[in-house]
Amino acid sequence: MPNLLSRGLFNLFFGGRRAPLASLPGPTPGLLGNLGDFLGAQPWEVCARYAREYGPVTVAWLGPSPALILNDPDVIHEVMETRRLEFEKGNIGEQIRHSTTDDTPFIAEQGDDWARKHAMDPLAQPWTPAWQAAQVEPMRRALLESVEAQFAHPSVDLTPTLRRMTFDAFCVATVGEKLPTSSYDDFMLLAAGADARIQAKLPLRFVSAPKGFEAAKERFYGVFARKIHEARQARSSTAVDLMSWTLREMPRLDDQVHAHLLGGFFFGGVFSSSTTLVGAFHQLNKYPATLERLALESDALAQGPLSLSRLVDEAPWGEAVAYEALRILPAVRVFMRRSPLTPSRLAGVTLPPGTTLMVSNQHLHRDPSHWASPETFDPERWLNGGAARDPLGSGHFFPFGRGPRACVAGDFAMVYLRTALATLSARARILVDSTEPFEEGFFFGVVRPRGVTGKIIPRERSTLHPASPEAPLPPAVESA
Ligand code: HEM
Repeated sequence: MPNLLSRGLFNLFFGGRRAPLASLPGPTPGLLGNLGDFLGAQPWEVCARYAREYGPVTVAWLGPSPALILNDPDVIHEVMETRRLEFEKGNIGEQIRHSTTDDTPFIAEQGDDWARKHAMDPLAQPWTPAWQAAQVEPMRRALLESVEAQFAHPSVDLTPTLRRMTFDAFCVATVGEKLPTSSYDDFMLLAAGADARIQAKLPLRFVSAPKGFEAAKERFYGVFARKIHEARQARSSTAVDLMSWTLREMPRLDDQVHAHLLGGFFFGGVFSSSTTLVGAFHQLNKYPATLERLALESDALAQGPLSLSRLVDEAPWGEAVAYEALRILPAVRVFMRRSPLTPSRLAGVTLPPGTTLMVSNQHLHRDPSHWASPETFDPERWLNGGAARDPLGSGHFFPFGRGPRACVAGDFAMVYLRTALATLSARARILVDSTEPFEEGFFFGVVRPRGVTGKIIPRERSTLHPASPEAPLPPAVESA
């Protein structure tokens, strides 16, 4: 709590601004508002703490400007679904446009801009599910090759390792082959440029791009432009990657836009998907019985080519593990929105124009009034109707966001996560050095696990212990 003088000064200068929001609870502001709470703590932790201490809708002060912290499923439903056209995404466009280009729907303005970009997004077409299904075996092969290359390393840091594996698998899904390390390096440089703007404490005009940014951008998107040119010449009727599929189904899509969308795929998905995998393997190491059950299921799957229908029919545990990782450690935990530029009503108050809204899933994904043993990694909760009780995008489970602007690639991400969990746990044992503490940072708007080191060793089939009716596997739930 700020001291008396600091509180008095805030009230002296900005007290008038508090009056319209006086019915909302929240921390007492000092001279800098509540900015101090956000220094040195992750924003999702602050949002969750406010929910616990003050309630589901709170007001905090970012200096002299108010922000509403939303942990109420109904108010979030309004902001992200029924009234979503009123609430733009905040500053994210200014922060990442230089790296992602303006063609991605991710930073489109609500309304016509988004509708136009969404309509020409290859990930939102009637044929997208067929493309997705066709990626399972190619991605499995790419992941197998990547994981086997890790056996030579005595120690790995899981975050960069799984990130690179994911990048490689996504190359196969988008252009049908892995790209060289130089493309990965260009991608990371562009992401670092955007991240510097997202995390900037100064106005963006003072944030300079990393050295070599423009050249990296030209090279990165240039690779996709070249691939598109070659694919147009080759006219393959059988290639199943996204680029070839798009050329067949949407031949009039401008090549430059197409190249930007292919490049943008990596920004949308590599960090979020690999963070989810790191979280999953971290939790699995805490709960060995759960890990063993996944390995058993995956080993059975690995006895033949993998397909989406096999994942669906034969890998319910893998799906439950993916859901549970997305619940307990969602990769995207804070969604920014901005209220309209004219006064508007929300949560019973009149918001000043342009009020910041912070929506977080951290608290709701672990809300003890909704979830049994919320802090326990328990994939079992998703079986026997659990997934239907809390579907993706519902009030207490929205790792991919909610409403029409939810992740356009959420289904693909699930296919990828399930393929990766099945492939990696059948072929390898991913051992982390220590399951505590689990430290998290932030990169490109996505949670980044820190210091999750360990080793990746081949899994021998004889190390698996099949369940029998007499000796069932230990329950997945163990003490945290
Ligand atoms: C585990 C993996 C993923 C997670 C957790 C995730 C999470 C999210 C979330 C929370 C949003 C909504 C943000 C908001 O409302 O402010 C979003 C949107 C989006 N995501 Fe993902 N994502 C994942 C994978 C991917 C992948 C693989 C792609 C590849 C293209 C992708 C591309 C996008 C795009 C383009 C949008 C913007 C959609 C729109 O505004 O129409 N994401 N994602």
